[in-house]
Amino acid sequence: MTSAETIRVDLADRGYDILVGAGMMAELGYAIRTRFGVRRAFIVTDEQVAKHWLEPARQALSAAGCQTELIVLPNGEAAKSFAQLERLLDRLLDARIGRDGVVVALGGGVVGDLAGFAAAITLRGLDYVQVPTTLLSQVDSSVGGKTAINTRHGKNLVGSFHQPGLVVIDTAVLDTLPSREVLAGYAEVVKYGLIRDSAFFDWLEVNGAKVLAGDPEARRIAVVESCRAKANIVAADERETGDRALLNFGHTFGHALEAEAGFDGRLLHGEAVAIGMILALDLSHLMNLCPGQDVDRVRRHFARVELPMDIASIAGSNAWNAPVLIDHMRHDKKVLQGRMRFIMARCIGEAFVTAVVEEDVVTAVLKKSLTATPNSMTPPVKISGVTVGTASSGS
Ligand code: GLY
Repeated sequence: MTSAETIRVDLADRGYDILVGAGMMAELGYAIRTRFGVRRAFIVTDEQVAKHWLEPARQALSAAGCQTELIVLPNGEAAKSFAQLERLLDRLLDARIGRDGVVVALGGGVVGDLAGFAAAITLRGLDYVQVPTTLLSQVDSSVGGKTAINTRHGKNLVGSFHQPGLVVIDTAVLDTLPSREVLAGYAEVVKYGLIRDSAFFDWLEVNGAKVLAGDPEARRIAVVESCRAKANIVAADERETGDRALLNFGHTFGHALEAEAGFDGRLLHGEAVAIGMILALDLSHLMNLCPGQDVDRVRRHFARVELPMDIASIAGSNAWNAPVLIDHMRHDKKVLQGRMRFIMARCIGEAFVTAVVEEDVVTAVLKKSLTATPNSMTPPVKISGVTVGTASSGS
């Protein structure tokens, strides 16, 4: 039997366990049976994940006595649509899913968000289990109960909070993940260090390369620490009225970059978040909130692990401009009473939310990033006598 680390998301009667370990896929059926009893398991996955993980998941469920049904979605962000949601709901209802059913979301963030939303609204709420197969979904989207689809008005604008009943994370599945996907997910790992835990950032500076290279113990620690951080934040603020917003560090910028890139695969969510976090740090420094040496430390780490840092590193971004990006930010669902909200940093390990940001300062930060030498330690810009992006002036 695989030894798993158990992390509890402490949400009273909606609380649940996150099980993390290499080889956990083989325990999926027993983990479900232990918590829910024997169930009809409706596996929702995509074509790519199905190639590698469908049979192991199915076998594990059958071995525990669960009857399995299968629903395969197309690959990619386009699956988070009304059309695919309708198709999924029809499949669940055609198969006469009842309260004895459990939806098993086997895949990355797209599968988890769509399957979770289907579980939230079918028969007014079904149990579901997250079995995330990307680093990004293991450390972020599978935990916390955010479910959604995209509409023509924007990403994740239709959805609900519906907590899973269990999250089963097999860190060994990352071995079949393309390295670009692992690196993109790693940006969300770094985020936990940046927003609340400087000791974790210290650890990543030493061990991040091992996490990316596939060292099993380094991967286990990175996933466990990230899930622990997320579980604590979600338990304290399930509905994002307070500290949960810190998890959006880098996301106001990142979502604007994704919207402008158009979800065509040239920019992964984690890559957008990586660039967005650097923009948020630059903005914090420019506003004299965060010491320049902290921004440089993060840049050095990103350079070492080859995470993108500047907008200029995105293919086609030479045709972009700051006003268009700011316009995307205004349409972010985090906008409150017409004011954009930013997650800023006081230093590595301490983030906070503010709406007190001048647009010309945001414009300056975007312009610098749009014209930077891709992934270099960019030269400083001076605005109103303040220096941004250098190893010097403290806050
Ligand atoms: N991914 C951000 C959150 O779950 O709140």
